[in-house]
Amino acid sequence: MILDGRDPSVIERAASALAAGELVALPTETVYGLGARADDDAAVAKIFEAKGRPADHPLIVHVADAESVRIFAAEVPPVAVRLVAHFWPGPLTIIVPRAAGIASAAAGGQTSVGLRCPSHPVAHALLVAAREAGVPGVAAPSANRFGRISPTRASHVADEFGDELLVLDGGPCDVGIESSIVDCTRQHPVLLRPGVLTRAEIEAVAGEPLLDRDENAPKASGTLEAHYAPRALLRLMPRTQLQTALQMLAGSPLKLAVYSRVAPSGTTEGMRHRAMPERATDVAHELFSVLRAFDDEGVQLIWVEEPPATPEWEGVRDRLRRAAASR
Ligand code: TXA
Ligand code: MG
Repeated sequence: MILDGRDPSVIERAASALAAGELVALPTETVYGLGARADDDAAVAKIFEAKGRPADHPLIVHVADAESVRIFAAEVPPVAVRLVAHFWPGPLTIIVPRAAGIASAAAGGQTSVGLRCPSHPVAHALLVAAREAGVPGVAAPSANRFGRISPTRASHVADEFGDELLVLDGGPCDVGIESSIVDCTRQHPVLLRPGVLTRAEIEAVAGEPLLDRDENAPKASGTLEAHYAPRALLRLMPRTQLQTALQMLAGSPLKLAVYSRVAPSGTTEGMRHRAMPERATDVAHELFSVLRAFDDEGVQLIWVEEPPATPEWEGVRDRLRRAAASR
């Protein structure tokens, strides 16, 4: 059931549900999350079960403020302190060594834990109310079934999990793709997942270059190749290749959707075109809901024009590459 997250009585009800070990879906500025109290392994197990996600994949623990980091972290490396001071609340997750005896299921059994303080007012209100009800943090992966596109609207969550689940409506998510994740447990910070913050912005605050993920990074579903997949077959192509492919497809009965900066020349019957915005942040904002809308229309193929190879597009390029790698 979808309830208005701006209603204080709804927040109270959701905080009580979390305290009782139940699941609540909440809006954040990035995507909607499927939350459970992070300090209760049985509650967290319900997330893995609902998503169909392997239990050794770590989740992000959401906290009301920077002080709560101490509850979950065994140690806060200086680089993490700088990132938190600058980017929280906001779309950045830090991975730090985990405090013994807490959030073991949420961390997927790892000795580290992912922490994030979201800026969305509904998420913040819920985290504050939950803390007052004795919940120190809320473990929440994106509120989609394993391997599927993250939800950016309350209705997307209800489509994934049905009417039983309490979903707090906070409107469409501003950012639209998941948070940037920086692993602060190693000698140098590692960018595990790019988001809308650019590498340069994070590096300026970290005070050193970000390393790329390597084979030492823990297994994590958000970073598997075949992730963020729409049902339709998605292909990513440079502009000229897209034009050629469209000419070759002319007359075919396949249901095709095109998401590109230039309007395709010559229209194919039954083809849907959606103009891709000029700015990376605008594409991030709408990307997942555009892909979901194509799926809902029963499109079989989605052809996407490759975004520019410039730094501000890193997060969007990453999600599109994974969506295209899914089959
Ligand atoms: O924007 C977001 O981060 C959203 C919203 C709901 O906050 N959450 C999200 O969660 O994207 P999820 O579970 O779909 O992705 C969490 C990712 C994992 O796939 C993994 O890559 C990383 O966070 N992660 C979490 N804890 C980790 C840990 N201890 N070590 C390494 N990676 C970790
Ligand atoms: Mg996810």
